[in-house]
Amino acid sequence: MSTDLLAVTHLSKTFRGPGGVAIHAVNDVSFAIRPGEIVALVGESGSGKSTIGRAITRLIRPSAGQVVFRDRDIAALAEDECRPLRKDLQIVFQDPWGALNPRLRVRTLIEEPLKLHGTADARARTARVEALADRVRLSRELLGRYPNELSGGQLQRVCIARAIATDPALVVLDEPTSSLDLSVRAGILRLLNTLRRETGAAMLFISHDLGTVRLISDRILVLYLGGVVEEGATRDVFERPQHPYTQALLSAHLPPDPKAKLARHLLDGEIPSAIHLPPGCAFASRCPIATERCRHERPVLMAAGAADQRAACLLVAEGKNRI
Ligand SMILES: Nc1ncnc2c1ncn2[C@@H]1O[C@H](COP(=O)(O)OP(=O)(O)O)[C@@H](O)[C@H]1O
Ligand SMILES: [Mg+2]
Repeated sequence: MSTDLLAVTHLSKTFRGPGGVAIHAVNDVSFAIRPGEIVALVGESGSGKSTIGRAITRLIRPSAGQVVFRDRDIAALAEDECRPLRKDLQIVFQDPWGALNPRLRVRTLIEEPLKLHGTADARARTARVEALADRVRLSRELLGRYPNELSGGQLQRVCIARAIATDPALVVLDEPTSSLDLSVRAGILRLLNTLRRETGAAMLFISHDLGTVRLISDRILVLYLGGVVEEGATRDVFERPQHPYTQALLSAHLPPDPKAKLARHLLDGEIPSAIHLPPGCAFASRCPIATERCRHERPVLMAAGAADQRAACLLVAEGKNRI
């Protein structure tokens, strides 16, 4: 038995695009999540975050690699073997409007997973629905309403209540605050922090925004073009980012100063196409310090910075990875 709740090894996912063209959405990604841990997956749009989240919750099948949840490779399971897993592995999507059936009352929506996963007694379910509403700080008055009568923030609370209804061991949150007004985002983040303490569930928090994950995660994985370029404890990654991409992302978050402007400029270019992967480092085309070697040789994650911090940059070995 391993101490990891989830261990993803060499995960790859290739989609078929128009005309059968191969889209390399996720390329050889490995990481683990311990019980109760909050791991953030950060990257620009198109970097493969949702694909990883969907593979972990077994909404899609990986093209290669393993997703071992509680010592069982769920990537290899047949569809009908997955159902019992859903109780333990839940996902919250970015768009709460699209995730909820508009014809069902909030009460029924929160009750659904309880029915599905075998809380047989109707009175027990009613009590549980009310307790869940309290837990996600959703006024009980709203239980009788329909989704279109709720705000985006309230709807996302409904989605979170559904996700935690069955006491899952792991919840994947795929940009849960990105579609919400700035004013309600902080409230949802506070709620997730509270839930983590109250429920002990581990979370994979997906976001394109480093500022958001700083508030909530224990550990960060930085994704670029379907591959992990840096990983480490949140504090270490923020204090001493090792990969040039992470450094550029973080500088763009600093208050305006000449250095920050430079960093913003550095990330102006486009992320390369997932159809024609570059032969060397995926970030080389936008990296201000890339060498000729970087364009031909693919870097792997290696120790850099603090203990348990790693970066996939060829320049780390020479200590020349500062932008
Ligand atoms: N069902 C699909 N069919 C074809 N291509 C897809 C599909 N889902 C995602 N992709 C492609 O895979 C890449 C990664 O997408 P995604 O995982 O959604 O990234 P992110 O969530 O980081 O924005 C993108 O190039 C995207 O266009
Ligand atoms: Mg996404």
